[in-house]
Amino acid sequence: SPPVESVQELVRRDPTRIPDEYVRDDDDHDEQGDAVQPHHFSSLQLPVVDLSLLSGGHPDEAHKLDMACREWGFFQVVNHGVDEELLLKTKDVTDKFFELPFEEKLKHSLDTERFMEGYGRSYAGPKDQKRDWGDMLMLMVYPEKFRSSKYWPSSPPEFMEVIEAFSAEVNRVAREILAALSLLMGMNRDGLLELHKEVVQVLRANYYPPCCKPHQVVGISPHSDACTITLLLQDDQTTGLQIQHAGKWAPVQPIPNALVANVGDVLEIWSNGRYKSIEHRAMPNSARARISLASFVCLNSDAEIEPLEAAVGGAGHTKMYGKIKYGDYVKRVWETIQSGKTKFMQRV
Ligand code: SIN
Ligand code: FE2
Repeated sequence: SPPVESVQELVRRDPTRIPDEYVRDDDDHDEQGDAVQPHHFSSLQLPVVDLSLLSGGHPDEAHKLDMACREWGFFQVVNHGVDEELLLKTKDVTDKFFELPFEEKLKHSLDTERFMEGYGRSYAGPKDQKRDWGDMLMLMVYPEKFRSSKYWPSSPPEFMEVIEAFSAEVNRVAREILAALSLLMGMNRDGLLELHKEVVQVLRANYYPPCCKPHQVVGISPHSDACTITLLLQDDQTTGLQIQHAGKWAPVQPIPNALVANVGDVLEIWSNGRYKSIEHRAMPNSARARISLASFVCLNSDAEIEPLEAAVGGAGHTKMYGKIKYGDYVKRVWETIQSGKTKFMQRV
């Protein structure tokens, strides 16, 4: 058997077959999925943050960012200055990579023991756990010394150049958001950046093949992101991302050329729970494959994370999370995924 499994290959062999290990029986899942937007949320939109206003120091925009991180944990970023052509090319090289023959992609397979980098299926839960209807390509992008060329596709030939240019832009956008958040959290503009010691950026390109019964499967199981912030580029033509909001799954409607940002666990911890790392999942579509690219902004594994003094301060406020090294935090998240639970958050 091949070293990694691929849902795309399953669908290629027989688009009408859904193996049992993918079929979900969760109660909340049946009425949702492809095209069926939970109607109680159809008119709700994620908060939209205009990055050029935010970076220009506009107080209303900073206020919107603060509200978004407190009440949603998610927001759309527009006016981010990333060239539209580059966004198109990024989606195009990703498409082209996943359209390669399976054998080609296997040259960049993830290491089945580590599951940290490379091409494969998206989650490594326990054997008896339901599987996700999606494949992925995970790459360490920054710092450059972390890159291993064997995981980087050599086809299409422009893949690396495009993904590097895209990632540099995402990195700039992330730093601008971190600067604004630093000010909101009572630090100087570089406060959050300095807490990273070193910014580590990881890219996960997701490929969700079409599914003939999309309501029976999940593209990516509910989880929160174990990083500082995530910036997501998604397909404008399909939907799939859903977030927990007010106790229900809320679909995120794509805004052309926007990036979807979300608060990760580390920002939740630093802010002592003021900013929320929200569970989310993705659903496949029946007619078309969906592609998304998540860029995780993380920190040096030696950096210690704990609630900031300024975030805890004030009578009646207790420190909600204990101190932990980021590397240990990630290990514990990993163990939680392996044990079949979805979210780990260390509490005092
Ligand atoms: C993710 O959580 O990174 C996947 C989100 C998506 O595909 O929309
Ligand atoms: Fe995620």
